[in-house]
Amino acid sequence: MIEQTLSIPLKIYLIQELPAEDIELIEAAKEATFRSYSPYSHFSVGAAARLENGIIVSGSNQENAAYPSGLCAERTTLFYANSQYPDQAVRTLAIAARNTEGKFLQAPIPPCGSCRQVMMEVQQRHHLPMRILLYGTEGVYELANVNSLLPLSFDESFL
Ligand code: THU
Repeated sequence: MIEQTLSIPLKIYLIQELPAEDIELIEAAKEATFRSYSPYSHFSVGAAARLENGIIVSGSNQENAAYPSGLCAERTTLFYANSQYPDQAVRTLAIAARNTEGKFLQAPIPPCGSCRQVMMEVQQRHHLPMRILLYGTEGVYELANVNSLLPLSFDESFL
């Protein structure tokens, strides 16, 4: 038996420690939570992607009475980014969420597994690392690339 431990590099910043362009991106993700369509969970998630050309696109979770037909904010945003700008790498993705009381979360929400899988493919498609910023009122988590969020990932190389 061989035992291995995989560790994930993670940096936690106070928001004021971040460069202006990251703060701008986080603000876009926070704003996007107010465009969430979440009448079932009342949990409002927003995401904002900064593309290689500097453009910011944002999106929010979109729910449906047929629950599995809804989509998370991260995938709404990434699919929109790649639909509108297929040649532009996503360099940074910021995520923010408000709870059922409408308040931004103190600790960031970690993206769901399906969103991590999509993030991985978006990163690989463009051959450039995609930084992830997870906003919480008490700290912002920074992951340098999607690999940190999804170790032991499945991708096209196994096909
Ligand atoms: N949600 C997201 O948009 N992103 C995540 O990373 C986790 C969950 C949404 C899906 C659903 O609309 C609501 O939050 C509750 O799960």
